[in-house]
Amino acid sequence: MKDIAILISPVANGAYFNETIDIAQKEFKQCIGEYDLTLNEIGGMQFLQTQLPEQKLEALARLSFVQGIFSYDSGTLTPLSLNTDFNLHSDFVFGSKYKGKTNEILTQLLLNVGLSFCKEKDVSKIKLLDPMCGRGTTLMWAMRYGIKSKGIEQDPNAVLDFRTFAKKWTKLHRQKHELKEGFIGKANKQNKGKFIDFTANGVNTRIINGNATTACDLLKREKQHLIISDIPYGVQHFTTEKTRNPIAVLEECAPQWADLLHKDGICVIAFNKYIPKRKELIAVFEAAGLSALEFEAPHRMSESIFRDVVVLRKN
Ligand SMILES: C[S@@+](CC[C@H](N)C(=O)[O-])C[C@H]1O[C@@H](n2cnc3c(N)ncnc32)[C@H](O)[C@@H]1O
Repeated sequence: MKDIAILISPVANGAYFNETIDIAQKEFKQCIGEYDLTLNEIGGMQFLQTQLPEQKLEALARLSFVQGIFSYDSGTLTPLSLNTDFNLHSDFVFGSKYKGKTNEILTQLLLNVGLSFCKEKDVSKIKLLDPMCGRGTTLMWAMRYGIKSKGIEQDPNAVLDFRTFAKKWTKLHRQKHELKEGFIGKANKQNKGKFIDFTANGVNTRIINGNATTACDLLKREKQHLIISDIPYGVQHFTTEKTRNPIAVLEECAPQWADLLHKDGICVIAFNKYIPKRKELIAVFEAAGLSALEFEAPHRMSESIFRDVVVLRKN
């Protein structure tokens, strides 16, 4: 066992606001295990201190709130090299800013929590879907973790914007890659089913323009281990039905998403718990054959958004 001090990233405050410490502890407990944690302020910085076996350090370095890891010996902090083993440069995820982008740190937590519950531990075998993927923050994180992913987004501009970003980013980083565009099934006038495939360092992601309520068709029933999504908050984003409450759309989506999951597959959803309520959201997915697991991460973002995370498993 090693005495460890974990420096909490100030950037995490931008994701979790006043609940940063609480959520850091929840993510740690879920992804690393039941170790005692104490909060200490040293030199104006916040550290979580604990004792951990060496083999946990790599997983620890991948937690969303971690800025640095130090060994702690009689008050002396010595930085340990963080071996996160991520694919691609971090600004692949953090480099683009656009209206409606899900916070990158929160998105990493969703992925970490999903992976902690996922039975398949070999990331090269895992398939991940974000059925309401926007411009692809979840998919970009998946690529950094070496996970093959697909996303569905109703806004046709998302595919175009992703292509523009990928072209600019790969040029900047002289990154070898492949970009391929096409249509799922027959091309049609409304661009439904248009997709873009992006492959770099042997990992692939695909963004499909379409409706999450038809996910099974768009994915040709290809089974997934993980579904991870930040659904509309009922403030900035409307759903396809032009309503602020995503529940009606989720009622249509839930059977499709459930169908796409492997048995024991995991679904992680970030949502605004003002709309829909946690119980309502869980009820919709339970009706489709998923069960809620023990994890929550409630944190207030603004007067109208109280974000939370729900994790469900296919029975
Ligand atoms: C909170 S945003 C997700 C943002 C995304 N994680 C990102 O960082 O770019 C929710 C997204 O769901 C999309 N959406 C809403 N209803 C949808 C539907 N029925 N099918 C597909 N996408 C949908 C919205 O257009 C919006 O882009």
